[in-house]
Amino acid sequence: MIKRKKRVPAARPKSSNKNPIVAGDLTPTRAVPQSIIRPDYAESGYPIAKAPKDLRKDEETLERMRLAGSAARTVLRAVAAEVQPGVTTDYLDQVCHEACLNLGGYPSPLNYNGYPKSLCTSVNEVICHGIPDSRQLEDGDIINCDVTIFLNGVHGDHSETFMVGEVDEASKKLIKVTREAMYLGIGAVKSGGPVNAIGRAIQQHAEAAGYGVVREFIGHGVGEIFHHQPNIPHYYEPSATFEFQAGMTFTIEPMITLGSYKAQMWDDGWTATTIDLSRTAQFEHTILVHEHGVELLTVDEGEPQPFMPGNDKTLWPMQVDLKAIGH
Ligand code: MF3
Ligand code: CO
Ligand code: CO
Repeated sequence: MIKRKKRVPAARPKSSNKNPIVAGDLTPTRAVPQSIIRPDYAESGYPIAKAPKDLRKDEETLERMRLAGSAARTVLRAVAAEVQPGVTTDYLDQVCHEACLNLGGYPSPLNYNGYPKSLCTSVNEVICHGIPDSRQLEDGDIINCDVTIFLNGVHGDHSETFMVGEVDEASKKLIKVTREAMYLGIGAVKSGGPVNAIGRAIQQHAEAAGYGVVREFIGHGVGEIFHHQPNIPHYYEPSATFEFQAGMTFTIEPMITLGSYKAQMWDDGWTATTIDLSRTAQFEHTILVHEHGVELLTVDEGEPQPFMPGNDKTLWPMQVDLKAIGH
């Protein structure tokens, strides 16, 4: 996601987190064979290409985005299968890296603005952009794994939050509400409608549960460029009146917190945590706006498309019944 605002200064509220995450050691940079086609920043670290003014993508590009999206889903499933106590986040990075290469794709985070790894692993109070390292997952942790793959010239961006072993009830509920919030955000998208409908739906659901919505990181247009317009705030921003049109592709990726929604950054320049070290969860899909309905791009062929007209709104296997949560 894109960083939106300056981070807040140092004054930190007292935290009740007795076991905060600490940084481990990084392994050397993983190699990518020359045969894999890379995005423009892969060598220099600096993205150069800009999105065209007209954000609507043509059918040929959209077909490539379906392939990149379903590849992101496949990679995330491979990573998810390895999440368990004792596993290091660096090992999850290796699984992600190799799964991307096996599919013929480049792991988009690698050297994006200098990011050192192929996956983002955000544990407990880490909001996003946690860097995989030698820390072992502990029973009771929650971890967001955020996969982006560059395949056929486009990016597919997808993340979920997983439970490690036995997790407390508060974390379980946080994860459930965050997943629901993402789907409610997706359900608020329509051609001709404003971007701020997304944040309104997400914020309403999160705050009804007593949770916070992170402001500092937002969703984004995605395609041939990793992060482009429009910005997608996950809170209600009245001035965000950009109107969607069919053919636009972007992410919805709310970060929801048990306590303060404010963020602070580690001195690695990437890892963002909640300022009070309360736990936080995130889910992300890349989606496509149609004239009627919205298509999830980060799914496998044959998975439900509950936001396309005429389809059942009950999401299996995600176990979110949109009707039951008032949509
Ligand atoms: N996948 C993240 C997003 O949702 C971006 C990660 S960029 C990185 O936008 F450099 F931190 F990897
Ligand atoms: Co994203
Ligand atoms: Co992402």
